[in-house]
Amino acid sequence: MCGIVGYIGTCQAAPVLLDGLSKLEYRGYDSAGIAVYDGNKIQMQKAMGRLKVLEEMTQNGATLPGTVGIGHTRWATHGAPSDLNAHPHFNKDHSIVVVHNGIIENYLKLKKKLMSKGYEFLSETDTEVIAHMLDYYYNGDPLATITKVMHRMEGSYALGILFRDHPDEVYAVRKDSPLIVGTSKSGNLIASDVPAVLKYTRDVYFLENEGGYEHFMLKEMHEQPKAVKDTLTPRIKNGDVVIEELGMTDEEIRTISKIFIVACGSAYHTGVTAKYVFEKLARIPVEVDLASEFRYRDPILPENTLVVIVSQSGETADTLAALRLAKEKGVRTLGIVNVVGSSIAREADNVMYTWAGPEIAVATTKAYSTQLIAQYLLAMKFAKVRGTVSQNDFDAMIQSLERLPEQISLLLSHKENVQRFANRYLAAEHVFFIGRGIDYAISMEGSLKLKEISYIHSEAYAAGELKHGTISLIEDGTLVIGVLTQPKLYEKTISNMVECKSRGAYLMGLTTFGNYNIEDTADFTVYIPKTDPHFATSLAVIPLQLLG
Ligand code: F6R
Repeated sequence: MCGIVGYIGTCQAAPVLLDGLSKLEYRGYDSAGIAVYDGNKIQMQKAMGRLKVLEEMTQNGATLPGTVGIGHTRWATHGAPSDLNAHPHFNKDHSIVVVHNGIIENYLKLKKKLMSKGYEFLSETDTEVIAHMLDYYYNGDPLATITKVMHRMEGSYALGILFRDHPDEVYAVRKDSPLIVGTSKSGNLIASDVPAVLKYTRDVYFLENEGGYEHFMLKEMHEQPKAVKDTLTPRIKNGDVVIEELGMTDEEIRTISKIFIVACGSAYHTGVTAKYVFEKLARIPVEVDLASEFRYRDPILPENTLVVIVSQSGETADTLAALRLAKEKGVRTLGIVNVVGSSIAREADNVMYTWAGPEIAVATTKAYSTQLIAQYLLAMKFAKVRGTVSQNDFDAMIQSLERLPEQISLLLSHKENVQRFANRYLAAEHVFFIGRGIDYAISMEGSLKLKEISYIHSEAYAAGELKHGTISLIEDGTLVIGVLTQPKLYEKTISNMVECKSRGAYLMGLTTFGNYNIEDTADFTVYIPKTDPHFATSLAVIPLQLLG
C-alpha cells in the first residue's frame, strides 16, 4: 500500500517528509520520492528500494531546500517498481507535481486523449495521467482545476499536489482513499495515515470524501440550507419576528398603506412571491416593479408608501436608480441586500441584510432563497402588528419557517431524480412553466434558471392565461412543467395541464407530497415536503434550480 506525506510551514520540508514516510513503511513499498518547493523551483528526487536510499541520495533532505513539499512511498500497481514509475510525477514544464494513492480506473482512456493532445508520458503509471490532466485543465485556479480533473477520473484516489504558481499552498483531496490533515504551530501536514504526523501534532482532521463541487452554482445551491437559516434565525426570538434594522415603530407600520417592491431578474421574482404573501397576510396592496421600468415611468408613490428595494449585489444600476427616485419622491425606503456596505445598503433609509455569504455564480440561488426569507419575515411582522393574522396561524408559520433549512437539505439530497429527468430532456428546445398565484412566481424563476444555465428557450405562464393564444405553440413532445404547491389552485392548474396534454405535451408536475393523483395527469412528478403554502417557493425552487 502506498503512503503520502505533505508539509507546509516554517521548517525545511524534506526532513519532515522523509520522517513521515518512515512512519508509513509498515504499509509496504518498493520505491519512494519527494518533491520540495523553495519558491523558485520545484525539485524532485525519487529512488527505487528502501527509503534509506532516498535519505542517502538527498543527504537526509539537505539537497532539496524549501519549506513546502510532498512525498510518497509506492507499491507498484501500474508499471513495475522503478525510479521513473516512483512518485511524485510532474507535468511537462514541472510547474505541477502530484503524489497519488489509489487507482484511476479509466486512466488508459484519459491517457489516450492526452496523447492525442501532444502529451508525452515518462512512466507507466496511472498517476502521471493526473499530472498531465491538471496541466491540461489548469486555468490559474488550482481548486477549480482539481475539481474539473476529479470529475473526469473514475476510481479511488488520495492526492497531494503542488502548483508552482501557488508557493504557499499544498492541495489535498481524496475519494475512497484515506487522507488526513494535521495542524501545528510550525506547519501543517497531510498524510495517508495518522502515524506520519504524530511527531508534529495531535490535531488531526479526517478529510471528507470528494468535497468539491463541479461549479460555484452547484456549491451555492448546496449552501442554501445554511444561508436560509442564517437569515432566519437571528430574526426569530421567543416565537416572534424581530427585525431591529427595520427602524419602524409599530405605529409607523400601521400607517403604511401601500408597498412597492422593486428589483431586477431573480430578485424581482422574489418580489412576485412576496406580493402574494404580503397581500394575503398583512392585507396591504403591493405592486412589484422591474427596476428598469419603475425608474422611467414616473411612478405615483402616495404618502405612507414603503418602497422595498431587493438586490443581492446592492449595485445593480437600475435598482439603485429606482431607489434614488423613490427617495427623491420623499417616501420611505428599505433595502434587502446581501453585500454589506454596497451602494443600495448605504443609500436606503434602512437595510435588512440577507446572510447568504458571497455569491460567486452569476446565476443567483442562495441569495434568491434568502431574499424570500427576508420578505416572508417582513410580511409576518406587518401582519402581526396590523392584527391581520391570528396568533395560532402566526405560531404555525414560525414553525414552518424553521423547518425550511432541513427541508431544503432533503430536496438537495434527492437530486439524482431531477438529474435523470434532465438527462432525458437535454435536447428540449422549448419548455413552458405554468402555475397560478405563488406557483406562477415559482414558474418565473424556474424558467429563468433554465434559460440562463442551459440555454433552452422557456416561458413562464400564468396557467390560466396559456389558452388565450400561446397554447398553439404546444405540440407533440413539448415539455410543460406544471407547478402546483397551492392547495386552492391545484385542480385549476391540473385542468390547464390536461389542456396541454391534449395537444401532445409531455408533462412534469412539481407538487407537494400527498398529491399523488397528479400521476394520473403528469408523466413525471417531483414532490416537495409539506409546508405552509405561503412559503412553498422556498422548496419548489430547489428542483427547478437543479433542473436548470
Ligand atoms: C438570475 C440572476 C439575475 C439577478 C439580477 C439582479 O439568476 O442572478 O437575474 O437576480 O441581475 O441582481 P441583484 O440581485 O444583484 O440586484
